[in-house]
Amino acid sequence: MEAATEPVQAYLTGSGAGVAGFHPQQATVESECIPFIQRLVRESGAYSGPIIEIGTLLGVTTTHMALAKTPQQKIITVDFFCWNPWGLTPDAHEALTTQVLYYLQQTGHVKCVRMDKNEFYRAYEGPAPAMVFLDAWHDYDETKRDLQWAIGVGAKIISGHDYCDEFPGVKQVVDEFGGPRQLAGTVWAL
Ligand SMILES: C[S@@+](CC[C@H](N)C(=O)[O-])C[C@H]1O[C@@H](n2cnc3c(N)ncnc32)[C@H](O)[C@@H]1O
Repeated sequence: MEAATEPVQAYLTGSGAGVAGFHPQQATVESECIPFIQRLVRESGAYSGPIIEIGTLLGVTTTHMALAKTPQQKIITVDFFCWNPWGLTPDAHEALTTQVLYYLQQTGHVKCVRMDKNEFYRAYEGPAPAMVFLDAWHDYDETKRDLQWAIGVGAKIISGHDYCDEFPGVKQVVDEFGGPRQLAGTVWAL
């Protein structure tokens, strides 16, 4: 018999949650967005170049993307471990995420890079990404930097999280760049 589990919703106490209210679904994309992200990942398999995620947190979306990618595709996920909703120190946050992504990193499917995203943008010399998923800092200026880099580097599919009233900067920038071609929940694709 399966053990009874409390519904996930009961744990969700928002971005102000401490470790006492910990749940890995906090601050990741809403579960109903996952099929859309996975469809974009499958589409990205038509292109060469890596899938780049900006903002790893715990690697929840990274893992969903890894399940949909081709075996040959690589995911680079970038995080500076400068924010989490549980009050973890940057080193503890990185250690936890490294553990979550251990198998995917050891098998070469995922590479986790600890770096400020804007530094990563400056340093990036790889091929045009097949897909970029933007989910780090959601104000106007940072979202604009993210989109300018993704377009400038020639990313084939550009998507991100939090196109919603809570993050007007994201909405404004995405609209300035032509608006979402597709929207599933708060996940957008140009
Ligand atoms: C909303 S969470 C990412 C959630 C993740 N994409 C998911 O769906 O599970 C945002 C993450 O962006 C990271 N972040 C914020 N600003 C950053 C920056 N300037 N450079 C790199 N990472 C940053 C934070 O440390 C945090 O882990």
